[in-house]
Amino acid sequence: MPDTPAHVPSHVAIIMDGNGRWAKLRGLPRIEGHRRGVETVRNVIDAAKELGVRYLTLYAFSVENWKRPQDEVGALMSLLEYFLKRETATLVKNKIRLRTIGRTQDLPEPVRRQLDAAIAATAQFTEHTLVLALNYGSRTEVVDAARAYAAAVAAGTVNLNNDSWETFARHLYTGDLPDPDLVIRTSGEYRVSNFLLLQAAYAEFVFTPVLWPDFSKTDFAAAVETYAKRERRFGRTSEQLKSAPCL
Ligand code: IPE
Ligand code: IPE
Ligand code: MG
Repeated sequence: MPDTPAHVPSHVAIIMDGNGRWAKLRGLPRIEGHRRGVETVRNVIDAAKELGVRYLTLYAFSVENWKRPQDEVGALMSLLEYFLKRETATLVKNKIRLRTIGRTQDLPEPVRRQLDAAIAATAQFTEHTLVLALNYGSRTEVVDAARAYAAAVAAGTVNLNNDSWETFARHLYTGDLPDPDLVIRTSGEYRVSNFLLLQAAYAEFVFTPVLWPDFSKTDFAAAVETYAKRERRFGRTSEQLKSAPCL
């Protein structure tokens, strides 16, 4: 597998927002916006693969989203189940591995069953990974990681006199994933809503006013283009990077 060219982000993470407003603008129920949002998910998975993005993380349901009206939560869970059922064959065809981050053990049983099946069916693929953030929140992730870390210390596999960020980060849900290079949020909101707070420490952010159901492959490519024009300095100076770009 050749390395991703430097101007293409290896990992793009998206806060998919604006389904409700998209529906409201049309006098439709919110769930109709979510339905249309699923079509966008399909297009964006394709676009990411076509552009050479190796990891795509989609924020599909936050730990806070359980606070929504019960019928909306139920509809979102049904849509997720339907998406997984319908999409697994396409993921296999396109050689895309599926995995999740979040407390998926608390999702309804039919959703868990579809997830397990899709993850198993795509486990052998290595070039492209789709990560669904489901019942995900950065703060619960830190709590879960701290618990796992404490257990590792107690078991003697982590030595507190000799630890580092890398050692701790292995206990996050994303322990075996690279950090996102680019985080996109749709719908004109300028916040991170408990998404990958630690992993996005040095990510580039692109905010677009486009509502998620209207977000096209072209919009995705435009965000990647914006990313390509940014200079990521990781704490260094611009001059340092220009004299030795591989630092
Ligand atoms: C994003 O769209 C989908 C989820 C959070 C599940 P929203 O449902 O948040 O849409 P708005 O923000 O109400 O427009
Ligand atoms: C963030 O969107 C969560 C997902 C995209 C799954 P929200 O619509 O839930 O975020 P807030 O409530 O506007 O911050
Ligand atoms: Mg929203």
